[in-house]
Amino acid sequence: MVQNIVILTGAGVSAESGLGTFRDEGGLWSQYDLKEVATPKGFALDPAKVHAFYNARRLNCLMAAPNPAHFALTTLQRQFPGTVTLVTQNIDDLHERAGSTGVIHMHGTITGALCAACGHRWDAPRAMAATDACPSCGKTATRPDIVWFGEIPYHMPEIDAALMQADLFVAIGTSGSVYPAAGFVAEARACGVRTLELNLEPSETARTFDEGRYGPASKIVPDWVAEMLAGVSRPT
Ligand code: OAD
Repeated sequence: MVQNIVILTGAGVSAESGLGTFRDEGGLWSQYDLKEVATPKGFALDPAKVHAFYNARRLNCLMAAPNPAHFALTTLQRQFPGTVTLVTQNIDDLHERAGSTGVIHMHGTITGALCAACGHRWDAPRAMAATDACPSCGKTATRPDIVWFGEIPYHMPEIDAALMQADLFVAIGTSGSVYPAAGFVAEARACGVRTLELNLEPSETARTFDEGRYGPASKIVPDWVAEMLAGVSRPT
């Protein structure tokens, strides 16, 4: 019987909310050079360009709303009798706005600001600028609280521990192209955990999963959640 579920979400879970994915046709990495906007070197070379990129992401996120996939995962968290650990590579806050709690943002959040000088964190304003001063130390080294390529994702020990305790690992709407998240399926399998991919189409790592179900997240995630909750008695 499944008691501990670890779920990893990627851009595909938010695609139907109107937030673009990265690697699908017309995705963000076909419009922008990731080395310029998503690396520490790119930020050092042109902080204004990087802030403009993330200011646009923040605005898109503010205008978007959670879709049935986000809400279904909240229902699972609330009604599943075991634990549901929700890990996301997404920087949007749509899981939280759908009511999910304890979401582990391994690539940071668009709603957060970080001082590269002193490590202080605060809520990002709608538009960040290279001239913004840190409210704690006053230095102008403020950046979005996002993990860039070449940096270490957040909360890795917590995620590894959850994977080791899991009976089921589910990856939703992720292409499996970016490590360490792309390696979670192998890590889970090495611990004897059953693995399931829910995606629009088979991802690059599809063959490493025990099972795959394919279609839009707004359909296949609620269907899977209904299956997981079938037979679970709910408070009346
Ligand atoms: P990708 O853009 O690489 O992959 C999105 C996946 O979602 C693809 O496999 C699509 O087939 C799938 N997809 C698209 N629409 C979908 C839908 N309606 N329902 C279900 N699936 C759908 O995005 P990620 O895998 O999240 O990191 O990318 C991983 C990381 O790469 C991101 O967190 C970001 C990016 O560079 C950083 O910026 C550090």
